[in-house]
Amino acid sequence: MSDIGKSITQFIIEQQRLHQNSTGEMSGLLNDIVSACKKISHLVNRSGIIGIDGVAGSENIQGEKQKKLDIITNDVMVDHLNWTGHLAAMASEEIENIIQIPANKPKGQYLIAFDPLDGSSNIDINLSVGTIFSILRCPEDIAEPTVEHFMQQGTKQVCAGFCVYGPTTMMILTTGQGVNGFTLDRDVGEFILTHPDMMIPKDTAEFAINMSNQRFWEAPVQRYIDECLQGEDGVREKNFNMRWVASMVAEVYRVLTRGGIFMYPLDNKPTTQGGKLRLLYEANPMSFIVEQAGGISSTGYERIMDIQPESVHQRVPVVLGSKNEVERIISYHKKT
Ligand code: AHG
Ligand code: MN
Ligand code: MN
Repeated sequence: MSDIGKSITQFIIEQQRLHQNSTGEMSGLLNDIVSACKKISHLVNRSGIIGIDGVAGSENIQGEKQKKLDIITNDVMVDHLNWTGHLAAMASEEIENIIQIPANKPKGQYLIAFDPLDGSSNIDINLSVGTIFSILRCPEDIAEPTVEHFMQQGTKQVCAGFCVYGPTTMMILTTGQGVNGFTLDRDVGEFILTHPDMMIPKDTAEFAINMSNQRFWEAPVQRYIDECLQGEDGVREKNFNMRWVASMVAEVYRVLTRGGIFMYPLDNKPTTQGGKLRLLYEANPMSFIVEQAGGISSTGYERIMDIQPESVHQRVPVVLGSKNEVERIISYHKKT
C-alpha cells in the first residue's frame, strides 16, 4: 500500500518501530520541530498583517542585518525545543554561542543546529523562505555540552531536514533511509506525505548560482558556467537554464524535484571568502538530504560531510545536486 497521504506523525512513529531499541526520543524531537515549523509557517504567512515584516535594526554575530522574523523564528525554535527533554543543547545561526537547556528542564541525548529562517532577504518580497536543521547525537555522560560536542562531521548526523514556506509549506526529512516530502494541510494542521522517496535526476540542464559574483570565482567554476552559457554552440552541445532564488531551501527543493546544480562556491569576494553558507546548519543538513536522494554535495575539492568542523558558524563552499554535473565540476577542480 502506498504511504502517500499518511500524516507525518504516523510516518515518524512507523519509522521508529523499525528500530528495535528505539526509545522514541527522536520521534518526540521531530514532533517538536514539526510544531515549531507549523508556528513559523503561520507567522511568515501573516507577517505583513501583524507587523513582523521588515528589519529589526540589529546585526547577528556574522555581521548580517537581522530581520524581525530572523529573531522571532529563532525564539519560536528555542521555545518549542528547550523544555521537552529531547535535546542536550542547541546551536542557531542567530546566536553566537551554543544554547543550553534551562537548568530546571530535563535534558535529552540529541544536539540540534538550525537556521531558523533561511533566505530571509526574501521575506519582504514574498518569496520562499525556510527553516533548516541538523540533528547529532550528544556524547554520553555530558552534563553540559560545549561547542566541542557540536564539532562532528556531517556523516555523524542522525537526521536532517528543512521546511520551505512557499506557495505551500513543505517539510523534507531524512533519517538516513531516503528522503521524504510532506505538505502542510492547513485546514487539518498536519503535514501529509505527498513526495515519498525523493530522488534527484542524475543529469540536468539547469544551474543556480549568484552570477553577480562571477568575477570572484575560481577557474574551475568559471569554466563550468562558461560552458553552460555557450549552450548548443559549445562543448556541452545543449542549452542550459538558470535560476537564483537566494533561498537555499527553495533551490534544494527544486533540485530534489527536477534535478539541477546549486552552487555558492569558493570565491575571493571579501564578504564571502571561504564560502558563504554555514557548515553546521546549512551545508551539512542539505548535503545529507542531497546524498540520500542520490545526489552529490561537495566543496568542489572534498565531500562536505567529511569536513571536520572547527567552529559553530564556519562557512564552506557548496556545490550540490545532480550526480553527473557535480562530478563534472569536481573533475574541473582536480585539473587545477
Ligand atoms: P540566510 O538568510 O539564512 O542568511 O541564508 C541566505 C543564504 C542562502 O539561503 C542563499 O542561497 C544565499 O544566502 C543567498 O546569497 P546572496 O544574497 O549572496 O545571493
Ligand atoms: Mn540560511
Ligand atoms: Mn537564516
